[in-house]
Amino acid sequence: MRADKVYSIGVIGLGVFGARHASVCLHHPNFHLVGVADIKEEVVKKYSSEFDVAGFTDYCDLLAVPELDAVTIAVSDQFHHEPCKDAAKKGIHIFLEKPIADNSVHAQEIISAARKNNVKLMVGHTLRFDPRYMAIKRTIDEGKLGEIIHVYARRNATVKSGRRLQGRVDAMIFQGVHDIDFLQWLTGSKVSKVYAEATSNILKDLKVNDTTMATLRFGNGVIGLLEQSWALPADMPSPLDVELEVVGTEGSAYLDLRSQSISIVSGGRLNQPDLIYGLPDQHFLIDEYNHFAKYLNGEVEAKVSGEEALSALEVAEAVMRSAESGKPVLLP
Ligand SMILES: NC(=O)c1ccc[n+]([C@@H]2O[C@H](COP(=O)([O-])OP(=O)(O)OC[C@H]3O[C@@H](n4cnc5c(N)ncnc54)[C@H](O)[C@@H]3O)[C@@H](O)[C@H]2O)c1
Repeated sequence: MRADKVYSIGVIGLGVFGARHASVCLHHPNFHLVGVADIKEEVVKKYSSEFDVAGFTDYCDLLAVPELDAVTIAVSDQFHHEPCKDAAKKGIHIFLEKPIADNSVHAQEIISAARKNNVKLMVGHTLRFDPRYMAIKRTIDEGKLGEIIHVYARRNATVKSGRRLQGRVDAMIFQGVHDIDFLQWLTGSKVSKVYAEATSNILKDLKVNDTTMATLRFGNGVIGLLEQSWALPADMPSPLDVELEVVGTEGSAYLDLRSQSISIVSGGRLNQPDLIYGLPDQHFLIDEYNHFAKYLNGEVEAKVSGEEALSALEVAEAVMRSAESGKPVLLP
């Protein structure tokens, strides 16, 4: 990376993930954090004072800072499109949290705005920066598993995740896009057909599904199973029960993150923190910003592009349509 390039950046949305982004930007050698924004005044006060940067309750005031080169957008999922379009109009490059948007119409508006204004857009699908997933991708790229026959991906979270998000999007959109994007990247092929079943019981009041299970067919003939849930008990020792399985003509690969391979018993409780997301050093986010800086420098393409993120969202929407209609759904 060219160490001389430093981009002025702001962060919009200072919730669970936005605060992490701001903290990473503050210490990253290629970024200079100039300001943060959130609609909640107390949150703006907390982080603008903690990071010693300007704080705004209206993100348009942050976008008006003259030296701003780029902005991270980490607002609630259903509000991504407006700040993205406003940043693009001002020629400010965008690092956008996943999912690209809450629906594909909004996602297309974001992509068009970036294209029209010649603005760079990268979407934060973290699995592409997760060393555990990257190890499996590398194994496949090296041909060690031969041709892929089938894949299986599970991302089941506790009911606390669903309750925290208060129905703003379904689990298939909030977290399912992670696995869909990764599987499309892994297989080098887009999903062409889905069939799904979903059920809503404990999260019925929020009008979202507890659990969705889908079969997938990829354009290159690979078949897959996808499982996403917010129904795990709140007191699970690990916040996520995640699995990935890839079976090929020459071998197979497995990722099992349920136990996280670290167990800590403290205060009478068993804790199994996620070794990537649950620890304070945030390497996956630092790696995302390393890549974003190279993308801004013009050294690499975006990993993940707006179009790839839209494709993952379109599959998630097709899965939800299939679950609602009880019929398979074909994708172009
Ligand atoms: N990559 C990952 O693994 C990962 C994990 C969790 C969340 N996320 C994504 O990060 C984004 C934020 O999620 P979160 O869990 O931090 O949500 P959150 O609810 O904790 O935070 C969202 C913040 O956005 C603020 N906000 C909403 N509208 C705004 C606006 N118009 N202007 C300024 N601020 C506004 C809210 O006040 C809140 O503080 C979402 O897109 C989510 O899907 C990604």
